[in-house]
Amino acid sequence: MENKWLNEAFKGEVPSGFQGKVSWASPSNIALVKYWGKKEKQIPQNPSISFTLSECRSETFISCEKADRFGFSFFFEDKENPAFGAKIEKFLLENQAFFPFINQLNLKVESRNTFPHSSGIASSASSMSAFVMCLLDLERSLSLRSLRPIEGSKGRPLDINSQKASYFSRLASGSAARSVFPSMALWGATDCYKDSSDEYAVSLENDIHPVFKTYRDSILIVSGEQKSVSSRAGHALMEGNPYAPARYAQANDNIKTLLAALKSGDLDTFINITESEALQLHALMMCSSPSYILMKPNTLNLINEIREFRQETKIPLCFTLDAGPNVHLLYPESEAEKVEYYIKNVLADYCARDRWIADHVGEGPKKLQ
Ligand code: PMV
Repeated sequence: MENKWLNEAFKGEVPSGFQGKVSWASPSNIALVKYWGKKEKQIPQNPSISFTLSECRSETFISCEKADRFGFSFFFEDKENPAFGAKIEKFLLENQAFFPFINQLNLKVESRNTFPHSSGIASSASSMSAFVMCLLDLERSLSLRSLRPIEGSKGRPLDINSQKASYFSRLASGSAARSVFPSMALWGATDCYKDSSDEYAVSLENDIHPVFKTYRDSILIVSGEQKSVSSRAGHALMEGNPYAPARYAQANDNIKTLLAALKSGDLDTFINITESEALQLHALMMCSSPSYILMKPNTLNLINEIREFRQETKIPLCFTLDAGPNVHLLYPESEAEKVEYYIKNVLADYCARDRWIADHVGEGPKKLQ
């Protein structure tokens, strides 16, 4: 795969006086089977499956002009932010063989999130995939301007290849690999899904029951504070975790079971796997060395409430957790009215300043300009 993208790289001269502008919005995603633990170069220890979200997204703008050498500045929500930009700059420098044209450009990257900054929602999946979409769009416009069609394009206009977008999003931030597809994506090689790969995610859009295409995710904000342990550190701690081999085996089994449930629309199995994966993720944190806990008391209160409500009403809602204290409440669109009433009247009391975000399964990245 690496060779394919190296061969296809745009290696032409950036025309003198070139000025470019591209912008993309890309969503966050929420994993059902979790990616937790990785090998070199962002290769996952086990496959993962996620819903692509819609309302929680990053909007990224690149403006650039021809220059003698690589130039880079990064603005987050209208303020220059070298700390946030460092990850993108590092990604560009590490991958310049794939994007040699960056050495002839002065790039200004501006990014903002549609979700509140202090909501505790990780933005690396949305921001890195939005950035990669912009970068590939820029490459496309350069190769279209070039007199020599780039190798492999056979002279046809080059569309943004979602496999390539997923490949480079993965290198920028693991779970970002899954954000470039509509509805649902699978990232990581598994025997039970043809063409699955550790290097990029694949779309599950055509392999899921219609109920999942409009699923709701109400994100209950228990705390908007920065997490005490980053995901990067969390992945690294899996290396010494005595339960790691059992976890990876179980994740593989869960992928198989979940894929079948997604296809048939089996909500009971979906709920079992999704909740067990969320609790397992946090159990792994509790038994790593050093151990740590990212759940808060209200995370547990919400979990208990949700389980009780499901038992009483038989409404098929369930929870999942990211690497943080906030609770993602997942349910079919057909139950939205009842569940939203329940959130406003019961669950919001457990949220920081009664805050929750109404999100739903979305369509993937969108070009803005
Ligand atoms: O993509 P990263 O390195 O931020 O890791 C994401 C890890 C989880 O969000 C906890 C799980 C997942 O699969 O998204």
